[in-house]
Formats: sequence, C-alpha cells, structure tokens
Amino acid sequence: MTHPTNLIGKTALVQGGSRGIGAAIVKRLVEQGAAVAFTFVSSEEKARALQDSITAAGGKALAIKADSASAEDIRSAVAQTVDAFGGLDILVNNAGVLAIAPLDEFSLEDFDKTLAINVRSVFIATQEAARHMKEGGRVINIGSTNADRMPFAGGGVYAMSKSALVGLTKGLARDLGPRGITINNVQPGPVDTDMNPANSDFAETLLGLMAVPRYGKSEEVAAMVAYLAGPEAGYVTGASLTIDGGFGA
Ligand SMILES: NC(=O)c1ccc[n+]([C@@H]2O[C@H](COP(=O)([O-])OP(=O)(O)OC[C@H]3O[C@@H](n4cnc5c(N)ncnc54)[C@H](OP(=O)(O)O)[C@@H]3O)[C@@H](O)[C@H]2O)c1
Repeated sequence: MTHPTNLIGKTALVQGGSRGIGAAIVKRLVEQGAAVAFTFVSSEEKARALQDSITAAGGKALAIKADSASAEDIRSAVAQTVDAFGGLDILVNNAGVLAIAPLDEFSLEDFDKTLAINVRSVFIATQEAARHMKEGGRVINIGSTNADRMPFAGGGVYAMSKSALVGLTKGLARDLGPRGITINNVQPGPVDTDMNPANSDFAETLLGLMAVPRYGKSEEVAAMVAYLAGPEAGYVTGASLTIDGGFGA
C-alpha cells in the first residue's frame, strides 16, 4: 500500500521505536517522508537493524540509546534529534512497560518504574521537544484502552498510568494550543507484540471481550498516529482516540 508523502521535510522523534508498535510508527512516518529518530533501551541490535534498513532504502533514521526512565537521557535524545535533522516537528511518546501482579505481590519498584516510563517520560519529552517545535508541531502519546476499561485483576497500576495520559494530554493541549501545536493520545486495544503476544493463553481471555475478535496490528495503530502527525489533523487536540476492536465498547 502506498501512503501520502505529506510529512516530507518534517522531523520526528519516537520514544521506544525499536520493536512492536513503536517500530511500525517509525516505518510509517518514514514512508510518509519524515526523518525519524527513535530511542531504545535494550534492543540495540533491533534498533540498528531498523535504522540500517531505512537508510538503505533511502530514508532518514537515527537510533538513539536512551532510557525513558532518565530525564537526562530523554533530553539528550531530543538534542541529538535536533542536531541530526535540524529541528523537531513530531514527538511520539510510545515507550511503555506493562507490569501485572496480584495486589499483594505488586512491588513498589514496579509501581515507580511504570510511572517513570509510562507517564513521567511523556511529560519530560514533551516539555523538551516543545522548546524546539514551531507552529504545526505534533505530540502523540500512546496510551491504552485500559485507561477506560481494565477487566482483569493485577493491572491497576498499568491502567492508572494510561489514565494519567488522558489528563496530561488534555492539560498540555491548553499549553500548546496557542502555539499551533497539537497533542493527542492514541489508545490501542490488544496489539500483537512482545508485550502482548496474540498466541498466549491470556490472548484467549482478551478475544472474548472484543467486538472485533482479533488482535490489532502495529501498522493499524501507526496509521492513526500518522493521521494525527499530518497536516489534516490540526484541529484535533487534547483528544484520546481509541483503536481497540471494540474492547471498550
Ligand atoms: N501491545 C498491546 O497490546 C498494547 C495495547 C495498548 C497499549 N500499548 C502501548 O503501546 C506502547 C508500545 O507497546 P508494544 O506492545 O509495542 O511494547 P513492546 O513490544 O514491549 O515494545 C516496547 C518498546 O518500548 C521501548 N521501551 C521500553 N522501556 C523503555 C525505556 N525504559 N526506555 C526507552 N525505551 C523503552 C522498547 O525498547 P527496547 O526494545 O530497547 O526494550 C520497545 O521499543 C506502550 O506504551 C504500551 O503500553 C500496547
């Protein structure tokens, strides 16, 4: 399928772009013409392979090792993107972790890690990226349908982190709107990735809860992100857009 090339001349940074939904977003933004930097924390080989495949095909990509739990790393990733590509127009906050455990066993380390990566990193990256963005800038967060519906035990902290993004997105829309910059929150349902493999026992439970009884594809989420990143979405801001096969219906 060919996509519009409406992001030619734009530069992007994707937090957590080495695998899964983030890698699909990186590829999609490149296909639409953007130069795309992306971070990873552990998957060095995958990140380098993605960068190499994009540059071999004539696109512009830059893999940056940066831990989303570290403010210093995030700020450095923004600086490296601006240095490499001469600006920053699109920020996608995709890096996320999922810790599930019964209430009794859920550790405070996992609580703090979840908030640091799923929420705090979104604030830090947006604050830093906004310093470089001009009118037409775009911030896109990857939340979850679990912000609205968490139909099983053990996922309360994850659900809380994704609900926090709903409020953060609304509030920051007010900061950024007067500058012509939008910020939105994409809320996927079950998507087949390392985080949530479609061939697990757990998947059977999830499929029973959905109107469209199948897992989503990372590319489907990337398409929604690409719409929000593009020039036609300038009047969409502060919104949480759900793409979940009716999981929350
Ligand atoms: N899959 C689903 O069903 C689903 C549903 C709703 C929402 N989501 C959300 O979608 C986003 C992507 O999920 P996914 O399923 O694609 O997950 P995934 O397959 O586990 O990939 C996670 C990505 O985030 C990066 N990442 C994780 N921790 C990081 C950190 N501390 N610093 C920098 N990068 C970090 C990983 O980098 P490394 O490769 O270096 O580890 C990887 O690129 C997450 O925010 C997740 O909560 C997923």
